Amino acid sequence: MKRKKIIQSSVRTNYIDLPISVASSYILIDKRIFGVDDHIKFSLFFNDKLTHMSLFLQSNSAIEKEHQDKLKEIEKLYIHHTQKNEYEAFMGEKLRFTIEDEAIPLDEKVDIIYTSTAQLANSLYENPDALENVQRSKKVVEPILQTIFHNENTIKSFIKIIGYDYYTHTHSLNVSIYSLCLGTELGLEEKELRALGCSALLHDLGKSSIDRNIVNKAGSLNQDEFERMKTHPALGYNIALNIGIKDKNILDGIRHHHEKLDGSGYPDKLKGEEITLFPRIICICDIFDALTTQRSYKMALRSYDAIFLMKTYMYKHVDVKIIDTFIKMLHD
Ligand SMILES: [Fe+2]
Ligand SMILES: [Fe+2]
Repeated sequence: MKRKKIIQSSVRTNYIDLPISVASSYILIDKRIFGVDDHIKFSLFFNDKLTHMSLFLQSNSAIEKEHQDKLKEIEKLYIHHTQKNEYEAFMGEKLRFTIEDEAIPLDEKVDIIYTSTAQLANSLYENPDALENVQRSKKVVEPILQTIFHNENTIKSFIKIIGYDYYTHTHSLNVSIYSLCLGTELGLEEKELRALGCSALLHDLGKSSIDRNIVNKAGSLNQDEFERMKTHPALGYNIALNIGIKDKNILDGIRHHHEKLDGSGYPDKLKGEEITLFPRIICICDIFDALTTQRSYKMALRSYDAIFLMKTYMYKHVDVKIIDTFIKMLHD
């Protein structure tokens, strides 16, 4: 339980020791991705607890053994926000090696991947209209997919580290992870899985266009607020089109993840076979993550309780065969 909190806070609450003016310029990163001989095209900083940042290593340097030893003593490592793109490019490469490194246990790999991809998902949801988000979403999906391909039972490792706290970007990352595991279990091909992971990651992009007070409201929404909230799938669909996504399956997942098989969903009130595979999968993973996540007004359910509730009370809305595959995936 304690571990989950640490991971969440390392991703979200970046700047607790610093004044806001300094904190807003720096991004907390995961120091575990650095190894000897890595060449970095961005500078690394640490917080020396005197409320300012100190340079740890200058941009365009190689990491040497002594740097790595010193890193062990540093609690938190940062980059400047202006070098975020360089850092993200480096991280994408490093995650590839992390996955292939047989010396790293699966739980630790999954932990590193989750922390790093959560950062990418945060960048994505902070600036949803950015054209680089298509590339960014690939950088999130690829390491998760490769981890699934390289290991059995990846889902169980992810479930152990996925946090209980709710943020739109971690929710979207979680839905992407569950969708990729479920899609693999359903026998989807690699190309389809990449598209599915991307669609799931972007499924709530439209929420970024809705008043934060509504999105983050503690408790149930009133009628007006709910009507506004219901516009997020269509808003997200438009953002996805604007950043250049053309794949119909990806767009379907974003626009139709709140449709229900009996026609009572939104925005297009699709029914039965009109709802394609991606929204069916994303819908189930979306509900599962919502039920297993803690909000200020509700407790998190355990995995099996969440699935049981879905199967018992939502069978008219969701694809029960896909739920059965989800159950099998958790059970195996
Ligand atoms: Fe949604
Ligand atoms: Fe969602």
